[in-house]
Amino acid sequence: MRIESPRYTERFGSVRINDVQKVLELDSGKAKELPLSENIVARKIEENVIKDLEEKMAIIIPTKDEKLKLFEGVISGVPHECLIIVVSNSQRKRVDRFRMERDTLSQFCYFTRRQALIFHQKDPILAQALAEAGYTDLLGGDELVRDGKAEGMVAAMFMAMIAKKEYVGFIDADNYFPGSVWEYARCYAAGFSMANSPYAMVRILWHYKPKISGGIYFRRWGRVSEVTNRCMNSLISVKTGFETEIIKTGNAGEHAMSLKLAEILPYASSYAVEPQELVSIFEGFGGVLPMAHSTAAKHGVEVFQIETRNPHLHEERGEQHLEGMLLPSLGTIYHSPLCEEETKQMILNELLQRNVLKKPDGEPPQPHLSAPPRNIDLPKFTQVMKEHMESYSALEEK
Ligand code: GDD
Ligand code: MG
Repeated sequence: MRIESPRYTERFGSVRINDVQKVLELDSGKAKELPLSENIVARKIEENVIKDLEEKMAIIIPTKDEKLKLFEGVISGVPHECLIIVVSNSQRKRVDRFRMERDTLSQFCYFTRRQALIFHQKDPILAQALAEAGYTDLLGGDELVRDGKAEGMVAAMFMAMIAKKEYVGFIDADNYFPGSVWEYARCYAAGFSMANSPYAMVRILWHYKPKISGGIYFRRWGRVSEVTNRCMNSLISVKTGFETEIIKTGNAGEHAMSLKLAEILPYASSYAVEPQELVSIFEGFGGVLPMAHSTAAKHGVEVFQIETRNPHLHEERGEQHLEGMLLPSLGTIYHSPLCEEETKQMILNELLQRNVLKKPDGEPPQPHLSAPPRNIDLPKFTQVMKEHMESYSALEEK
């Protein structure tokens, strides 16, 4: 594929945040010797480079009671070389939707000769393996993994660690366009191919997010993202003393990380998860607070923001849902030790304007954080899980 070269990079301590890079060509043709200057404006990323990276990547698909047709479309869009890991929190009573997902995935794997893993978030074996491996942050009062996409994401990261992958990418299961799923995975690979640090993150920015109301309207920005980005940019601007608009993907649900980076970040619950990743990177490597990890600080943490060509169309969940996203999102910024009074005030004003705060003198909630995945005793977790791994594998050897 061909993508704009990283033209502008902002530095915040040892964090390098690259400005948005657009996909120019989904398919850039055969590999050819190019004059060096060709790569200055646009980067041609050869198919074999993309495939090599995809081979090292797990695509994690969180799902909860999504339409089976959507799920089927999403898995069909994941490039062949990637390992699919489905983490489901779908209902098992009345109608066993999890079983339907597993059967769909098994059939897909059988016909496409590929491997995949699928597990249920509420599986007691998973909870037991986590507890025995000393990682109890995901567990709730019933001693099972709590509900939530974020909790599912972390559990699936452990599976990617067992599978010895080097990269993890997240793609929601409620996506209507298999072609956009395919593009996300390629963008993840393209981002990692440009990274100079093994501690890298790629966040997707949608070109358009269509809304259907009478006709079809191609929206440029999500309503929540706009506010999150503004407040996160304020957090950086106040600290560095230079105004910036560099963050354009504060809420990016579609994003990927090298496992080296993924393992050293804490994760917030609910819609706080994606903004918290950035906030934690700023806290851990921005140079204002003590460095969270000396090797990562030495290499630097690199963030790419890539704008796709396919529009993003997913399940519409209504206005109240948007409010439910804004509070936890802004809570990550508000409660960061990096957040100065000016940004706090900006956040409160945004929330008051939208009537989202319950009390006029209230605050957004403090994020609930799970420890970085590297805190787990991985050999122990692997040992408990491996005994049951066969039932998680969706590859049918027929
Ligand atoms: N495993 C698991 N467990 N998956 C879940 C759960 C759960 O408890 N709850 C939701 N999911 C799945 C959904 O089925 C879907 O595939 C995905 O997680 C995202 O959930 P949505 O409900 O579709 O989220 P959204 O569309 O409002 O928000 C998306 O975009 C936001 C940024 O714009 C998500 O990706 C957010 O995480 C993101 O912040
Ligand atoms: Mg969605």
